[in-house]
Amino acid sequence: MEGNILTLIYIIASVTFILGLKKLSNPAKARNGNLIAAAGMTLAILGTIFLYKDENGNTLHNYGWIFAGIIIGAIIGTLAANKVKMTAMPEMVSMFNGMGGACAALISIVEFNHLSETFTVPGWSEVPWNLTGGMIGHTLTIYAGCLIGTVSFAGSMIAWGKLNGKIKDFSFKGQHILNLVVLAAILVLIVYLLFDLNPANYKLFYLIPLLSIVYGVLFVFPIGGADMPVVISLLNSFTGVAAACGGFLYNNKVMLTGGILVGAAGTLLTILMCKAMNRSLKNVLIGNFGGSNATSSQSKTGGNYKEISVSDAAVAMAYARKVMIVPGYGLAVAQAQHACHELEKLLEEKGVEVKYAIHPVAGRMPGHMNVLLAEADVNYEKLLEMEQANDEFKTTDVVLILGANDVVNPAAKTDPSSPIYGMPILEVEEAKMVIVNKRSMKPGYAGIENQLFYQPKTSMLFGDAKNVLQQLISEVKNL
Ligand code: TAP
Repeated sequence: MEGNILTLIYIIASVTFILGLKKLSNPAKARNGNLIAAAGMTLAILGTIFLYKDENGNTLHNYGWIFAGIIIGAIIGTLAANKVKMTAMPEMVSMFNGMGGACAALISIVEFNHLSETFTVPGWSEVPWNLTGGMIGHTLTIYAGCLIGTVSFAGSMIAWGKLNGKIKDFSFKGQHILNLVVLAAILVLIVYLLFDLNPANYKLFYLIPLLSIVYGVLFVFPIGGADMPVVISLLNSFTGVAAACGGFLYNNKVMLTGGILVGAAGTLLTILMCKAMNRSLKNVLIGNFGGSNATSSQSKTGGNYKEISVSDAAVAMAYARKVMIVPGYGLAVAQAQHACHELEKLLEEKGVEVKYAIHPVAGRMPGHMNVLLAEADVNYEKLLEMEQANDEFKTTDVVLILGANDVVNPAAKTDPSSPIYGMPILEVEEAKMVIVNKRSMKPGYAGIENQLFYQPKTSMLFGDAKNVLQQLISEVKNL
């Protein structure tokens, strides 16, 4: 009876995960989707704790430990999530993902310990788990979960450190070859232990997590800072696969489904991000893009640029027919989304049509700009995806760029030597007038000069995005 209820709970939870993921693709429904999936996960956890029975009819025990862990984890998670700034979101995702990987790896280690306890049983070679007894699948799942989970943990911790500036990019000649050698050593060890595990060699298993930590660290160290969100997404998919291994080990359907969904979603996101930057995953992994070795050598100083005053910018926008706002990382740093929405409403009151052009990798993570603008109650209908926006620039009078740089850099189309060459960009220069708000002439994350700033139709409006927007608001109000 309990078993049937638990199966039903697992089916309901799996459905909530799928519904939740579906809703996450729409900013208006994302919050709701998150809550639905979280409710399903809570149900699955409580169901497992209170209804699970093994084949001998034993229920779970150690309730004190289980609930102490849940309560401590919930408190830390809630505090961290409330405190985190939107711009620091990728590093928090990285940290949480690393914890998921570590859990999956620990499951494998605990299960291996159970397995190896059998070595103390006299006549161990007769016991059914021995590989000759057909347990290859089970043992392989333990090794795979340990390898993938540990790599995800170690890699995520390095990614976390790089994103918050505590760890600097580090690479040396032949590093990629060393990485391959370490990975090959782990795989050879796994094959060896898979086919010849015995009381004399079983402790070699613990080399798998140790070498996997080395591999995870070496794998992420040389990757350029600007590519960290792609790497986090890739590591996220690793954690999903490692969790799915746990699902296999425990024959737990909901863990398996959850793991597969995370693995698939992480893989798709990785592919989408690479596409949005028009780069292959191989290039991301060995390209060292936007790191300390950023290609500033490729920068060309662009000559003269012209500045515009706040009042002239306000007049240009207030008397325009159509204004397109391009948000970027700087808008997020300045937390200027509310001021931006206020300016948009004021302009609309004056009869100006206002829309937002959203580049898929604007900011530091996918959907960054959508989430930011949703927080300020900007109507989703006004957010145009890159292709739509590029169609509309021709009929736009003024483009207001707020803290965006690489995503509007024409070098992506015109300069084959540029590291962002081939990346689809917002073609803002198609509009009649371009106003760029940033604090200086410094390059963006890719570390390269932007020729857009020197074009005749471009005017620079220097200052912190929030400050400048507040000034623009008061100027527009006075017109
Ligand atoms: P960036 O190219 O990084 O440019 C942001 C600009 O904002 C900077 O040039 C900076 O100039 C300005 N800024 C910083 N603080 C500001 C403030 N308080 N007020 C006003 N301006 C401020 O950003 P982007 O155009 O959004 O491009 C995103 C970059 O990240 C791309 O290179 C993209 O490939 C990369 N990336 C994104 C993702 C995802 S998934 N989103 C993944 C991987 C890589 P000043 O210092 O002069 O102010």
